[in-house]
Amino acid sequence: MSEGSRRGKTETICFTNNKGGSGKSTTCANLGYELSLAGKRVLFVDGDMQLNLSLSFFDEDEVLRMAESEKTLYEAVKHKKDLSEYIVSTPYEGIDLVPSTTLMSQVDYDLFTMMQRELVLKKCLQGVKDKGIYDYILIDAPPTLGIWVINILCASDYVILPIEASPWGFFGLANMFDFLNGLKEMTEAEIMGVLITKVDERKNYYKQTKDILKAYESIHVFETFIHVDSAIEWAQDASVPVAVYKKNTRSALEFKRLAEEVTKHGGR
Ligand SMILES: Nc1ncnc2c1ncn2[C@@H]1O[C@H](COP(=O)(O)OP(=O)(O)OP(=O)(O)O)[C@@H](O)[C@H]1O
Ligand SMILES: [Mg+2]
Repeated sequence: MSEGSRRGKTETICFTNNKGGSGKSTTCANLGYELSLAGKRVLFVDGDMQLNLSLSFFDEDEVLRMAESEKTLYEAVKHKKDLSEYIVSTPYEGIDLVPSTTLMSQVDYDLFTMMQRELVLKKCLQGVKDKGIYDYILIDAPPTLGIWVINILCASDYVILPIEASPWGFFGLANMFDFLNGLKEMTEAEIMGVLITKVDERKNYYKQTKDILKAYESIHVFETFIHVDSAIEWAQDASVPVAVYKKNTRSALEFKRLAEEVTKHGGR
């Protein structure tokens, strides 16, 4: 992406929840795509060895080719490099990506012996932020709570917590908040909101959502819920955002509304 005249403050948002399959990667990819349609410049950082964020924009062959190259997030973090050098363009206007690799599975181990090991990613991202060419940096986190996820949180201004509308989706939320609270001294990342995902109206369970979340009065819950939508899986199979796969499908419209909530939150 060219460094145009529209320089400004870059907001960094990460998507975390140690519960696997809660919709982190799906939300990150589709929210980012909608932000780009709204004219925002977006840099995705694929922080997970599962490569799901990368697979949302490139087909499997291309993702594996990138993962095997020298230009991955893992290499940048391991050698404490400026992430500007690791950015690839995607086929979409306004969207760039720092690809992941399966080697991310050992990043906790590599970080362990580094000085100021919680701040390595933050420092790698500083050059990109200083250039101010992106409106948003969106980081997809893995379903863990180790030193790497602490790095992701320390590099972020905001956290979005996608949770699945199911009993086990809610279980553990308190631990997640405790974990984030415990990092208060280390990171200024603020919880932008909890996002309820995979809502299935046939199950009715989601109706208890608001009651369950009342226990956490100070936590914002996005008004937009993301419903179960089979188009999401077809889109992921085709390595495209859901709105590209099927423009007006329910979840595409919901991600658009979520993007509006996110931009309003930051006053953009
Ligand atoms: N709204 C939805 N409707 C239907 N399927 C969905 C929806 N959201 C996510 N999925 C599916 O649920 C699965 C988990 O979603 P996703 O990979 O985004 O979660 P995750 O939190 O990133 O998982 P992980 O913890 O493994 O990183 C995927 O197979 C995805 O296709
Ligand atoms: Mg994921």
